[in-house]
Amino acid sequence: MKWRPTRAAIAAAAALLVLSATGPAWGENATACQPTPPQTEGPFYPVHQQDDKDNDLTLVKGHAKPATGQVIYIVGEVRGPQCRPIAGVLVEIWQAAASGRYRHPDDRNMSASHDPDFQHWGVTVTDQEGRYQFKTVKPSPYPASFFWTRPSHIHFKVYRKGFPTLTTQMYFAGDPYLEKDLIFRRIPEPARPQVVVQLKPPARDMEPDAKVCRFDITF
Ligand SMILES: [Fe+2]
Repeated sequence: MKWRPTRAAIAAAAALLVLSATGPAWGENATACQPTPPQTEGPFYPVHQQDDKDNDLTLVKGHAKPATGQVIYIVGEVRGPQCRPIAGVLVEIWQAAASGRYRHPDDRNMSASHDPDFQHWGVTVTDQEGRYQFKTVKPSPYPASFFWTRPSHIHFKVYRKGFPTLTTQMYFAGDPYLEKDLIFRRIPEPARPQVVVQLKPPARDMEPDAKVCRFDITF
């Protein structure tokens, strides 16, 4: 089911826009339209046919039960050179469930359970102001190897004719695995805040225990 932003959600997004306009700060994803650092696509890009092609990952078409986990709303703008918002950009996300498990045959993290009510993948298109939004759950960290745990993250891919496709990952401020993550650390240090978001309280019409974050993307 597609989530459409209500007035209160738009107000919350606007408040986040104002917050991040005050200057760069760790976890605010607010580095004044510097190009978003690319990150690896990773091994778990979806291979299954998607039944539900929308921006609400918490509800799977035909399932009565919502996904398990902390509900989060991601709002943001996609921008081009000179910080101009870009309309009509296809924004795709994919991620692990709240358990840390992907819906992918190569995910061998058997200690984490599958959530059949989580969509794992979503897609939307930016509006005339270049804005997009998703409703999802916060994924858990998961083991990438015996000695390496990936921090919570959400994969993004953005496409627009005339721009190179941008693949990246969004992280959460305060994650204990972030600073040691081998993929995050490939980003030059000054650019790292651009892919780290801060979870904030929800807007009035969102679930009272939901969180909202802003993630701007610049080609
Ligand atoms: Fe991943």
